[in-house]
Amino acid sequence: MSDEANEIHRLGVLISGRGSNMLALARAVREGEIREAQIVVVVSDRANAPGLKLAAEQGIETLVIERRASSREEHEREIIAALRARHVDLVCLAGYMRLLSPVFIEAYRWRTLNIHPSLLPSFPGLDAQRQALEHGVKWTGCTVHFVDETLDGGPIIEQRVVPVLDDDTVETLSARILAQEHKAYPAAVARVLRGDFQLIGRRVLLKSR
Ligand code: GRF
Repeated sequence: MSDEANEIHRLGVLISGRGSNMLALARAVREGEIREAQIVVVVSDRANAPGLKLAAEQGIETLVIERRASSREEHEREIIAALRARHVDLVCLAGYMRLLSPVFIEAYRWRTLNIHPSLLPSFPGLDAQRQALEHGVKWTGCTVHFVDETLDGGPIIEQRVVPVLDDDTVETLSARILAQEHKAYPAAVARVLRGDFQLIGRRVLLKSR
């Protein structure tokens, strides 16, 4: 992030669906947990994503950029152009259901975050909550990480832990994790925007340490 004093950070959020993490970020910006920041655009690759309406209700600009016949790279270039046109300096993936190619990763390296509903590196990919339940782990949670070329494998910024209960279903476990996601994502974004970290190898450590 830039060191300029009093700069308002410009966030872009990419979604494909429900948008509850996007809303949690919007609330954190509004309530000052994420300081000196604004969500300037919410981009969805699906026209019917419920999160689009939620974003519009918050007064946030929404864009639908579907992939249609274009290649993955062409689609991403369209998104990058829209983000750059709005001077976005941090991209938050929030239930964005597409794998990003090196084209996007390069454009926003160290400036793209993702949230995943497991304690990575356990259970990357789809259906992380079901994977955890079926594996039989007793604890799971959520992870906010920088996005790199690996699937859910970039350096970890923040994790929250929840228990797996004997009578859990995918739905009850997902709800318990989601409540923590809504705390972890704002905390991670606030920290990244403050520049309060140093990267040592894969480890995201406190700067002041
Ligand atoms: C969340 O569980 C998130 O961890 C995962 O996709 C889900 C998105 O939910 N990447 P929402 O759209 O933010 O409600």
